[in-house]
Amino acid sequence: MPVVCGKCRSTKAEVQIPYARLNLCPTCFVDFFVARVKKTIEEFNMFHENVTVGVAVSGGKDSAALLHAMRQIYPGIKLVALHINLGIPRYSDHCQTKIEELTDMLHVKLHVFDLYETLGVKIGDFKKTSFKEKLCSVCGTIKRRIFEEMAMKTRVQVLATGHNLEDIAGIMFNNFLYGRWEQFVRVKPVLPPLAEGMASKVKPLIRSPGNENLLYCLYEGVPFREIDCPFSKGTGVRKSAEILETLARYNPYFKHQILNRFLEIMPLLENVKPKPSLGKCKVCGFPSSSETCAFCKRINLVKQLRKA
Ligand code: AMP
Ligand code: FES
Ligand code: ZN
Repeated sequence: MPVVCGKCRSTKAEVQIPYARLNLCPTCFVDFFVARVKKTIEEFNMFHENVTVGVAVSGGKDSAALLHAMRQIYPGIKLVALHINLGIPRYSDHCQTKIEELTDMLHVKLHVFDLYETLGVKIGDFKKTSFKEKLCSVCGTIKRRIFEEMAMKTRVQVLATGHNLEDIAGIMFNNFLYGRWEQFVRVKPVLPPLAEGMASKVKPLIRSPGNENLLYCLYEGVPFREIDCPFSKGTGVRKSAEILETLARYNPYFKHQILNRFLEIMPLLENVKPKPSLGKCKVCGFPSSSETCAFCKRINLVKQLRKA
C-alpha cells in the first residue's frame, strides 16, 4: 500500500524524514524545506529585509538550494550571487557553468572572482608548496578572505553560505574530538562583521541535512554540479563525517543533537580562549591577528616559488 503524505494526506509520500517521523509528498516536502530555511533565518535573526544579501554559491547542491529557496522566501529582497572560480581543471569551469544557469533562471546577478585572472594563482599551484597535503584547508583560507573582499566590492551587508547540518555538526564533532575549542566560533549561525564596512556571515542551512538539499534541487529543477572536486578526498573532516553518519544510522536525531547541544554551550566555549586582537595585514590591509594575514602568506608562497 502506498504511504500517504503526512501533511496533505491526499498524495503518495516519496520523502521520508526520519528525525521528524514524517513522510511527505514532493509538494509538501518543498514547502517543509522552504519553511525551515525561513524559520532558521528568523530564529537566529540573520538579516532584515532591507539589506543586500550575497549568497556564496559554489556550484554544489547546498548553496544552489539556498539561493533558490531564498529567492522564493524573499522575492523582494536585494539578492546577489558570489562565486569564486578556483582554477581547478575541468571542475571549476563546470561549477561556473551550472551557477550561470541557476542565476539566469532566478534572474539574480552573479559576481565571479576568478582566482587565476585576478591573482595569477590556481589552487593546484599549492601542490608544489608545504600545503601539498592540505589543498582543501588552503582553499578554505583563500575563499574566506575573498568572500570578504567580494562582499565589500559588491556592497553586500550579509553573506550567506550553504553550510549544511552535516558540515556544521561534523566540524563541531571534529573540534570536540581534538579539543579545538577556539575554533567553535567559526560555526556560529551568525558571525558579526570583522570590521566596519564588512559583511556579517550567516548560515541559513544549518538545520538542513545535505540529502534534503539535494532532493530540493531535484524537485525544483535547480542546476548544480555533477562532478566532485578532485582535491577533496580523505580529509580529517570527512573521516569525522563518516563516524557521524554511522552514529546517525542508530539514532536519527544524532546530528541535530550535536548541533543543538553545541549551540547551547557556544557562549561558554567563546570564553575558553581569549580571541586574538585583530590588527591589519601589512600587505592587503584586511583584519588579521598577525602582521601578514594567512591569505597573503599563502599567495606569496606560490609567487615566490615561481620566481625561484
Ligand atoms: P565548503 O567550504 O566547500 O564546504 O563550502 C561551504 C560553503 O561555502 C558553500 O555552501 C558555499 O556557500 C561557499 N562556497 C564554497 N566554495 C565556494 C566557491 N568556490 N565560490 C563561492 N562560494 C563557495
Ligand atoms: Fe577547494 Fe576542492 S574546492 S580544494
Ligand atoms: Zn593580507
